[in-house]
Amino acid sequence: MQPDDVAADAPLLFFDSGIGGLSVLTEVQRRLPTAPIVYLCDRAFFPYGDRTELEIAARVPALLGRAVERFRPRLVVIACNTASTIALSVVRAALQLPIVGTVPAIKPAAEATKTGVIGLLGTQATVRQHYVDKLAADHAAGMLLLRHGDPALAPAVEAKLRGETVDPAIWRHAMHGLLDQAGGDRMDVVVLGCTHFPIVQAELGAVAPGVAFVDGAAGIARRIERLTAGQQWPDTQPGGIFVSTADRADNARYATALSEYGLTTLAQF
Ligand code: DGL
Repeated sequence: MQPDDVAADAPLLFFDSGIGGLSVLTEVQRRLPTAPIVYLCDRAFFPYGDRTELEIAARVPALLGRAVERFRPRLVVIACNTASTIALSVVRAALQLPIVGTVPAIKPAAEATKTGVIGLLGTQATVRQHYVDKLAADHAAGMLLLRHGDPALAPAVEAKLRGETVDPAIWRHAMHGLLDQAGGDRMDVVVLGCTHFPIVQAELGAVAPGVAFVDGAAGIARRIERLTAGQQWPDTQPGGIFVSTADRADNARYATALSEYGLTTLAQF
């Protein structure tokens, strides 16, 4: 597609199981402040971390296919590590437009570590993926990669964005899933391999003050800017759309948090 063929109001379509994709959206909005946004949230199937590979590989391309027909985006951002590490290639094969995935930022972590011990905090489904083995082999050979898939963390981030109080033991438990492994005392960099987790980086950092965190959001934003270079954008931010597979009542619980990201129209998908 030539840049001129893309209408100024064609949106960027963000996709995540929940509201984790907001951590990627923030970085994209920094670079492309007037980009029209549609955010598709599969909360009816949340959390993806508890799902099987087969369930995710079947569901994500089907949902995105429907969303692309309905919203005619210029580009799709799978703002979910679990969906990307399992279904990115299937989605790319099925849809005829640029698809940007989110995968654990092991490469920048390997460049940043001084001790050679990196932690990967993700969902249970992400940390067991072959995609992660490959990232580790390609970018962190000879280093120790500790992995912890935490089932409670993404749901706790959702609760925080609903305005609920979260038990701090959840942040401690997640970090100690890495720190308590052999070699964990030497870990100096942690990859936040779930898009929900940067939203609670301060809480996680308070558990292990000497540890640095990396995630892929800034790199994804740079990539989207490159892929859309030369395309037209609206003069002002048109107000983003949030659609969810859950019902309206569920959406309403997130309305305040979503409005802070410019997502002001909420609907059921
Ligand atoms: N935000 C998601 C990720 O990046 C997944 C959270 C979940 O549904 O378990 O992996």
